[in-house]
Amino acid sequence: MSTTARAHPNIALLKYWGKQDRPGNYPATPSVSITLDTLSTTTTIEVAPTDRVWLNEIEVEDAKVGAALEDWRQHYDIPSLSIKTRNNFPTAAGLASSASGFAALITAIDAHCELSLSDADKSDLARRASGSAARSIHGGFVTLAEPDWQARQLLPKKAWPLRVVIAITTIGPKAVSSSVGMERSRLTSPYFEAWVSSTASDYGTVVDAVTDRDFDKLAELAEASCLKMHALMLSSKPGLVYWHAATVACMHEIRALREQGLKVFFTVDAGPQVKAVCTEEHAKVVQQALANLPGVEETIQVGLGQGATVIDG
Ligand code: DP6
Repeated sequence: MSTTARAHPNIALLKYWGKQDRPGNYPATPSVSITLDTLSTTTTIEVAPTDRVWLNEIEVEDAKVGAALEDWRQHYDIPSLSIKTRNNFPTAAGLASSASGFAALITAIDAHCELSLSDADKSDLARRASGSAARSIHGGFVTLAEPDWQARQLLPKKAWPLRVVIAITTIGPKAVSSSVGMERSRLTSPYFEAWVSSTASDYGTVVDAVTDRDFDKLAELAEASCLKMHALMLSSKPGLVYWHAATVACMHEIRALREQGLKVFFTVDAGPQVKAVCTEEHAKVVQQALANLPGVEETIQVGLGQGATVIDG
């Protein structure tokens, strides 16, 4: 008997980068994200004599999954498991595969082991494994903030059906993982405290922009959060440079399109891919413009997706 769950990656509009100095993987900054459709992680689990993990049909030693299982077993009765997980998008290329991965895994475990977890419990356990995973428990627009650091839906996807064009500039694993990079920033960047305090004060404004469906305001705030996070990354020692030439070219193109009146803004995470968030009306033009840039290997257009669900079992 097996159980299969599916979850989608999410993209932060207000960014999480840096952890609090206490156990439980609590973010140092609040965040606001959108969950995507089309891209997904599908995870099938069954009870097995020992834990074994397959990623895209290949057996792997995944330290993060091992640590998550060990942590979750301190709270819940979870047997040894065979875990078969598949991503329909490049893993570890700055497309948040750990977010959809841990959201799918805890959702499958909850159903398979009949743990009767609430969404709040699942987001709490997912966050302990990977901060951004807490947000993939929910669909649409999602917040992750104090005091409990459990993700909550802010707006369902239908309430504001934005589109996202992902410009893939390089396929391949990123140089420095988010966990390692954010710890480096906390320990070495002279800007870390300013990042944490200013992001905390940006939070309410971003929530208002989403609730009011104010695209121009959200565009300004989301680009500012992205650039501020990358300024922090660059100021870490040694500096974290996640951008490639094509990443920067996409950012300039998106701003040029906005100058021409298109409703579009960029965001970039811990990798070289660019996500252009736009209205349905302008998605096609945005996709064509990015696809024509030198160095852009591929573009993918997606919409907003739902939270993690059990699909079989
Ligand atoms: C740049 O959630 O991958 O995508 O908690 O260490 O697993 P861990 O980090 P992770 O970091 C995500 C960082 C980001 C911004 C964001 O998604 O908010």
